[in-house]
Amino acid sequence: MPDQFTIMTTHSLIIGDSSDMPEIDSGSIHLVVTSPPYWNLKKYGEKGLGPNLAYSKYLYEIQKVLKEIKRVMASGRFVAINVGTAISNDGMKPINADIVKIMGDLNFSFRKEIIWMKPKGTQGLWQRGATKFLRTEPYPCSFSLNIMHEYILIFQNEGQMQIDLRPEHRLSEEFIKEVSWSIWEMGVSHSKGHPAPFPDILPERIIKLYTIQGEFVLDPFGGTGTTMRVASGLNRNSIIYEINPAYIEIIKKNVGWNNTTSDCGIKHEIKIR
Ligand SMILES: C[S@@+](CC[C@H](N)C(=O)[O-])C[C@H]1O[C@@H](n2cnc3c(N)ncnc32)[C@H](O)[C@@H]1O
Repeated sequence: MPDQFTIMTTHSLIIGDSSDMPEIDSGSIHLVVTSPPYWNLKKYGEKGLGPNLAYSKYLYEIQKVLKEIKRVMASGRFVAINVGTAISNDGMKPINADIVKIMGDLNFSFRKEIIWMKPKGTQGLWQRGATKFLRTEPYPCSFSLNIMHEYILIFQNEGQMQIDLRPEHRLSEEFIKEVSWSIWEMGVSHSKGHPAPFPDILPERIIKLYTIQGEFVLDPFGGTGTTMRVASGLNRNSIIYEINPAYIEIIKKNVGWNNTTSDCGIKHEIKIR
């Protein structure tokens, strides 16, 4: 099977704002797999899109990154975006729907919507919603909900896709049976030091579904480097951007950083803008 071969791959961490990615040639990325900041839900430190940003400004900032993704994407290739719905006092914010609109305006086709179903009680058994409903207002019209799902939205770039598929790239029957349902039941990440890493299985499934070995995977919202670690294990090249330098050490640890090309053919590079 292809994933057992080791080939030379390069992994670049760029500490900087991904609304501008001059380090990447136009049309050179085969897959984006990413999870943008969740507007008001999580704190990412001083830089990045924090909880106090107005929703319209938040969407504007996300749009700048999506436009730059458009520039670097290879023809016909795929972008997978993991997002949740945000709640606020003035109503829910359908980040997923707004991203579908922005991507449509950039001439990406919306191809798939997957629901990531998390185990119940990942933040304590009853979490905030049910606790509030049960303890303080257990009456009609006070319904309060625990959100236990997120979306994985898959978009395809315009143009003719070029991919050199051979028999050894065939996906296994077991894998196909696992992923061919629109609800993916997956656990949450237990990585420490960051408020919102996704679990390895998320980028792993997407990378296997949309690339072959030796291709380039980009994560413009790198966080703890989960995408880089998984891409490296699957013999894909990777580039990640992370705006907050506080995460450098976590990323290095997570990906088993080595500044030179190692015996197993993995090279890491870092650029701090
Ligand atoms: C939801 S987290 C990503 C977590 C990641 N998937 C992981 O598994 O660790 C989003 C990350 O994007 C970063 N970020 C926000 N705005 C950015 C920007 N304009 N350029 C690069 N990184 C940004 C935040 O600092 C945060 O670490």
